[in-house]
Amino acid sequence: MTSSSTTLSLVDTDPAELAVDAIVIGVHSQTTGPDATSGPAGTLLLADGAESIAAAFDGKLTATLTLLGATGGPGEVIKVATLGTVTAPLVVAVGLGPEPTGAAPAPETLRRAAGAAVRALAGAPRVALSLPLPDDADAPAALRAVAEGALLGGYRFAGYKTKPQPSRREPVAEVLIAVPDAADATARAEVDRATAVAGAVRTSRDWVNTAPNELRPPAFAEAVATAARAAGLDVEVLDEEQLRAGGYGGITAVGQGSEAPPRLVKLTWTPQGQTNGKRVALVGKGITFDTGGISIKPAQGMWEMKSDMAGAAAVGAAMLAIAALKPAVAVTGYLPMAENMPSGTSYRPGDVVTMFNGKRVEVLNTDAEGRMILGDAMARACADGTDYLFETSTLTGGQVIALGKRISGVMGTPELCERVKVAGDTVGEPAWPMPLPDDVRKGMDSDVADISQVNAGMDRAGHMLQGGVFLREFVTDDVAWAHIDIAGPGYHSGEPTGYWTKGGTGVPVRTLVQLVEDVAANG
Ligand code: BES
Ligand code: MN
Ligand code: ZN
Repeated sequence: MTSSSTTLSLVDTDPAELAVDAIVIGVHSQTTGPDATSGPAGTLLLADGAESIAAAFDGKLTATLTLLGATGGPGEVIKVATLGTVTAPLVVAVGLGPEPTGAAPAPETLRRAAGAAVRALAGAPRVALSLPLPDDADAPAALRAVAEGALLGGYRFAGYKTKPQPSRREPVAEVLIAVPDAADATARAEVDRATAVAGAVRTSRDWVNTAPNELRPPAFAEAVATAARAAGLDVEVLDEEQLRAGGYGGITAVGQGSEAPPRLVKLTWTPQGQTNGKRVALVGKGITFDTGGISIKPAQGMWEMKSDMAGAAAVGAAMLAIAALKPAVAVTGYLPMAENMPSGTSYRPGDVVTMFNGKRVEVLNTDAEGRMILGDAMARACADGTDYLFETSTLTGGQVIALGKRISGVMGTPELCERVKVAGDTVGEPAWPMPLPDDVRKGMDSDVADISQVNAGMDRAGHMLQGGVFLREFVTDDVAWAHIDIAGPGYHSGEPTGYWTKGGTGVPVRTLVQLVEDVAANG
């Protein structure tokens, strides 16, 4: 099940003369005035890029937009019929918030605005964006943001409706971005990069949004393997027999309760030419559905647990983007996949499981299944040899309690956690470092095994940290690692906003790609 796609190109002709269905301009809210250079407080300010459209409106565009209720607030979209003033029949003003003093808007502001505008224009086949882009060293990042926002705001999951929906408008098919020089090589490279990265984000959203009966582990493994082979990656898929024989006790234990057996997918990118010798491993949680197992979850909202493979979807998709971007660094993706079901063959509380690295885990709650499959996959990544290990998972409800729906929690080697935070800030996927306290580890001492899977008191205090503390046991000392808990940010159940549509968000695909490029450039 895949979404329709949006194509991007650059234009450098006068926006007022573009033959498109709509032309998008930016507007700022004016909260500071009045002074010599700005209008009174509450006045709308047209952003750079709107000049020729404003001229065609004979100076009446600001007043018209104000009349229609425009305030310039972030994400606001106001449409004006042009009635022949410019070639496009529609001008669309998208809010950018207050104008930053002496600077162009932040990339994330542009990304969200482009996303909101393209989303609001569903039904229009061809649109142009004439947004404020800086003409200095920040230009590539701004263009990248606009391009990504447009492609992601134009995403719509195909869905399963049997009848055509008259009220459902087709996503924008073609987006033109107005730039000073459409032939500029740097600008064109940014469009290519954004196309590869946003394409990967869209693929990860498709996988997350696919109904869980259609994406059980064998089908998910097949979908990832097919896409990865087409992208030119090396692919290896371990089935349930190989997993059992190979000593993957955690993946086997979680997977044994389902009729659809578990898998471990390994994807390898081998760079051509010279590299700095660093190796990166990406690991993602692929629970295709999480009922909780014997420690079953309540019914309300359980359907959202189809998103419990968002980490694996992000890793698989990031690997596709890496195959397209060809960074000079070796990258291996590990996607452990299982369906967590209650049945006569399920693993149970009290079981002791021997993991891939030989450690024995006492199971206390079968709903803490993510760490079981991840422990095996992380140990395997370390056994294969790696310098940096980034793992991402919808691991704990505690992440949502601690940091909310937008900010991922990061635990691991402090320097690498900081690097994840910086990468996340750069791409607009915020992440926040959290500690790995000794007393939390103490609470997970087991009477019978090497470690308990959760603390025996089932104390939920700081339980995001328990996840990180547990996973640390499966990383060797020579490997710098970071665990990125995306329980909240991986899935958006609210109304669409910015470039986020309902359902899978694609977080943290762009962070992972950024980190890989960072390691390729800086070691
Ligand atoms: N997949 C869930 C975590 C989750 C919760 C993701 C809400 C997205 C939204 C995970 O497997 C789980 O069930 N975690 C338990 C851990 C507990 C048993 C220690 C939780 O968060 O309650
Ligand atoms: Mn669970
Ligand atoms: Zn889970």
